[in-house]
Amino acid sequence: MKKNKNKNGFVDVVVGLQWGDEGKGKNIDELLSRGEYSAVARFQGGANAGHTLKYKNTTFIGHIVPSGCLQKNIELYIGNGVVVDVISLLKEMSELKKMGFNVAPRLYISNRAKLVSYLHPFLDQAEEFYRSKGGAKVGTTGRGIGPAYSDSRSRRGLLIGDVLHPDFKEKELNLSRFHMDFLEMYRKRYGFKYSENAIKQARKNWLDAIKSLKKLQVCDLSFLIQKRLLEGKNILAEGAQAVMLDVDFGDYPNVTSSNTLPANVSLGLGIPHTVIRNVYGVIKAYTTKVGGGSFPSRIEDANLEKLFQNAGYEFGATTGRPRMCGWLDLFALRYALGLSGANKIFINKADICLSDKIKVVVGYKIKGKRLKDFPLYLNQVEKVITEEIPGWGNKNYRIKEKKKVSKELALYLKYIKNKLSDLNVKIISVGTGPDREHFFNWDN
Ligand code: GDP
Ligand code: IMO
Ligand code: MG
Repeated sequence: MKKNKNKNGFVDVVVGLQWGDEGKGKNIDELLSRGEYSAVARFQGGANAGHTLKYKNTTFIGHIVPSGCLQKNIELYIGNGVVVDVISLLKEMSELKKMGFNVAPRLYISNRAKLVSYLHPFLDQAEEFYRSKGGAKVGTTGRGIGPAYSDSRSRRGLLIGDVLHPDFKEKELNLSRFHMDFLEMYRKRYGFKYSENAIKQARKNWLDAIKSLKKLQVCDLSFLIQKRLLEGKNILAEGAQAVMLDVDFGDYPNVTSSNTLPANVSLGLGIPHTVIRNVYGVIKAYTTKVGGGSFPSRIEDANLEKLFQNAGYEFGATTGRPRMCGWLDLFALRYALGLSGANKIFINKADICLSDKIKVVVGYKIKGKRLKDFPLYLNQVEKVITEEIPGWGNKNYRIKEKKKVSKELALYLKYIKNKLSDLNVKIISVGTGPDREHFFNWDN
């Protein structure tokens, strides 16, 4: 890594600006390959994320291991803001080891990160079951994210550092009893079914994983990062999920349970916000969403949506669920840009465009009135206002040079730029394929 002479390091952030799966993993991998950063740090979320990395013949989907795992000179940090599913973590580490990447010596986990317990996924299911009776499910990834954050906020949760203390067993038993009472309540009152055997097996697997966790580098990560910054090293913060899934600013309750905004980098890593330099925002040339809730820009023609789904391979990297596909939603994007302060944009999947004409959502209407502000609830939106511009088929697949871009895609990029011209943002890179090298720079 290039060292800043006599200067402290900085933190850059990558966040999704839509509903997740924008290709953050790929952009993070590419940014890290530039030699400017010494480490990458997850600051929120957990194994609900699915970040795909592709480089030449190597493909890896990271849920909890940060996206620098395929680059041997990059340290990997899991911050205090993350809810850690130890079984997923160990599974990924062993998968990486088989691929020739032993990440253990360069992986550091905050002792203040939250431990996902073996009963959290069961509670996640129970809560979804309960919601399905009263209305609609959130469509969670089932990874226990909501219950783990609830325990944390209710001050009864377990921290990663707890596993190293003699009272861990007692704390864990108390929490498990509490969880079982809840599950029993869901069973008795609402008819939620769970298998005692599945719980027993989950407990066994989890306790085995905790033993292995003790051998990993658990530390005061906030201190380590501050030290690295003083050494002049730069760090990339890896956002999971996206602005539209933020627990405070997304379409509540169809959100995840953490703050996904760059503002949370400081709290999720234990560093001052003043060290943050660039905020990179990632979007796709269209939009996808997985899970429950309204999706205003969804493509109405089901056959066309299917085409986008198949061409873009829009199936969840964590759950395999098909992702709904929609047009680029500039009204939502402006909201996300305002909240995130992203100043540089990556646009992915510009190679996926199958219709002669594509639409862009530029506004929402409720009761016949065009909205100025973003609505509190997306299910209130009655109509979206769209504009239409020419599509470009598959002309731009895997191109790496700006001069080779088709005139229709160039028009689309200029169109987006004009629509955002009052904001302090630049489109800097356009993705044309899944490999981290499939992109061209676009510095308008
Ligand atoms: P993340 O969660 O934001 O990291 O994104 P995911 O990995 O869940 O989903 C993005 C998907 O799109 C993955 O399958 C990537 O390999 C793929 N991808 C990323 N960028 C591009 C691109 O520019 N073109 C194409 N065709 N695929 C891309
Ligand atoms: P990456 O980092 C897309 C969605 C779920 C559900 C809601 C709540 O790969 O972009 P949760 O399990 O978090 O309680 O689910 O959030 N969701 C994602 N959608 N990409 C993700 O992560 C997501 N992580 C959670 O589908 O609607
Ligand atoms: Mg994903």
